[in-house]
Parts: sequence; C-alpha cells; structure tokens
Amino acid sequence: MRLVILGPPGVGKGTQAVRIVERLGLCHLSTGEALRDAIRSDGANAKDLKACLDAGQLVPDELVATIIVDRLDEPDCRRGYILDGFPRTMSQAEMLEGLTRSLGNGLSAALFIDAPDDVLIERIGGRGTCPECGRSYHHVFAPPASVGKCDVDGAALEHRADDEPEAVRERLRVYAERTAPLLGFYRSRDILVEIDGTADVDAIERQIADRLEAHAR
Ligand code: AP5
Repeated sequence: MRLVILGPPGVGKGTQAVRIVERLGLCHLSTGEALRDAIRSDGANAKDLKACLDAGQLVPDELVATIIVDRLDEPDCRRGYILDGFPRTMSQAEMLEGLTRSLGNGLSAALFIDAPDDVLIERIGGRGTCPECGRSYHHVFAPPASVGKCDVDGAALEHRADDEPEAVRERLRVYAERTAPLLGFYRSRDILVEIDGTADVDAIERQIADRLEAHAR
C-alpha cells in the first residue's frame, strides 16, 4: 500500500497514521514531524523553519520535497508507505505524482479525513505531543496512562507553538486555500477515499480499514 493521508489541522491524521502503520507495517513519513525534528536539531534552517511553523504558514515546496525524495527510495519505504502531511499544495501533488511514476509505483489511495472547524479546535486545544516520538494525546479523548507523559517513551508531553489560537486560525485558512484543492486532484484520479472524521478514534480506524479493503478490490 502506498497512501497519502489528507485533512485539516487536528482532524487526526497523525493518530490514524500510527494505527495504519501498526496494522499494515508501512513506513510512516510525517513532514510535520520531520520539520519539527529539524528545528529541534538546530541545523542551518532551524530559525526560519520555526518562524514559519509557529505562524501556521507552509514551508517552501522545494524544502519539503527533499524530505520526501530522499526517503521514498529507501528500502523500508519501497515496501509501502503512508505520507502524513504531504502533499499540501498542488505543486507538491504533481511532484509526488512524477516521483512515484519514476519509481514505478503510483499511489494506492488518498485518504481524506474531514470534520467541522469546531471539532478541530476542540481536538487541537486539548492536544499534548511527545517531543521524542511525535505521538499525539488529548487530555479528554486520548489521555496518556500517566498524566503529561508519553506512553511509549515517558517523555514529558508538550503543547505545540502552532496550536495557539492565532496560528490555528491561520493553519485553517492556509488549508482551505492551498490544500483543499487536492481533493479534486485525487478524485479525478479515482483514488480518493473519504472518511468521516467526527467519530471516535477506534470507529475511524475501522472505517479506514473497511474503506481501504473495498477500494483495493
Ligand atoms: P503537521 O504536523 O502536518 O500539522 P497539521 O496538518 O496541521 O496536522 P496536526 O498535526 O495538527 O493534526 P493531525 O491531523 O495529525 O491530528 P492529530 O492526530 O495530532 O504540520 C505542521 C506544520 O508543518 C504545517 O503547518 C507547516 O508549517 C509545516 N508542514 C508540514 N508539512 C508540510 C508540507 N507538506 N508543505 C509545507 N509545509 C508543511 O490529532 C489532533 C488531536 O485530536 C490530538 O490531541 C488527538 O489525540 C485528538 N484526536 C485525534 N483523533 C480523534 C478523534 N477521532 N476523536 C477525538 N480526538 C481525536
């Protein structure tokens, strides 16, 4: 399976990607996580990247494309992958299409999870993120076993700077303007799989499994 997972900020892409990876043994590539890692490691572009992410803006296409190009050709990704947060613009979608064509294996499906803004804001408002493994928790909907600590590695959960209300408003605006048009792109290629993101985490996981199975037939 070669999947992309699309949807507005906070809809649960990362949460579901982790579950899909566990079930199908795919390679998980989150551009948001890769960018936050680059900021934490304080490399050459770290300051500019941080300013961009914290303001809720997209980073330039060329920069994010290098993350994908380098990774997709590695042996574990050649067995199948899920791209979480990529593509996010029409030019990223076209670049990915060219890349998968050159690797000789097109996308199996584009999963699109959607929910209204009030649901997204409630989810983002209660989120805690593990700085080590990137896993997301929610103090009401998906609490960790031990308050404030990641179940996997025990790291203290953090509040993302781009989860502040002003940045969230900007991320929603950018999503509507730059990313929502990708639905038409994947629908026209007959690989769009639409998922109701208002349900609970387990119900969405079951929905995705059923829809992917039906899509593969
Ligand atoms: P990224 O990290 O990809 O952020 P995002 O797309 O805004 O998505 P989120 O991570 O906020 O949410 P999610 O949908 O993964 O939800 P989650 O599972 O955490 O990107 C961040 C930034 O990086 C971008 O703004 C941009 O600057 C840059 N960037 C990244 N990719 C780029 C690209 N390709 N090009 C350019 N720039 C790029 O869930 C949210 C919360 O809800 C959690 O608390 C969770 O526990 C809870 N939850 C999940 N599902 C449910 C449910 N069903 N019911 C109740 N609660 C739920």
